[in-house]
Amino acid sequence: MTSPVLHRETQHLIELQLNGRPHSGLARPRLLLTDFLRQQLGATGTHVGCEHGVCGACTVQVDGVAQRACLTLAVQVAGCRVDTVEGLASHDGVLGDLQTAFKRHHALQCGFCTAGILMSCTDWLARLRSASRQPDEAEVREMLSGHLCRCTGYTPIVAAVMEVARHA
Ligand code: FES
Ligand code: FES
Repeated sequence: MTSPVLHRETQHLIELQLNGRPHSGLARPRLLLTDFLRQQLGATGTHVGCEHGVCGACTVQVDGVAQRACLTLAVQVAGCRVDTVEGLASHDGVLGDLQTAFKRHHALQCGFCTAGILMSCTDWLARLRSASRQPDEAEVREMLSGHLCRCTGYTPIVAAVMEVARHA
């Protein structure tokens, strides 16, 4: 009888800029970015829902582009800038414009979806701003279609995003 082969995966040192600050941690080749952020770097603001790229809860920005952390391997972000919801407020805790609008419009209830929505919206709004474009409501709803929210019915989220887009 042959003995089972024990396979040890190599751990890789991942260095990255997380919310503008240098961080590093060890990751096996198949470690997801969600688990790396939450378990190795303590960035638990990034939520894990479906782990299949469907719900959007895990959305972060990699080099400024919104992306599903549950479909990204930690080793893929070595040397990248990664931004998570923890980076939206200032260091002294003042909420960003979009966070403030969410609060004003009651655009969250349980908040499970919120971090991912904020990270998608900030990327999307920045791209519209650089193109000097104002979105209409249908465009906001289409953008939000990549995120599942079981609580709000989306209307207050749309209102918050529209408000920030108007004042951009
Ligand atoms: S946890 Fe990544 S899309 Fe749902
Ligand atoms: S606020 Fe609960 S899922 Fe969106």
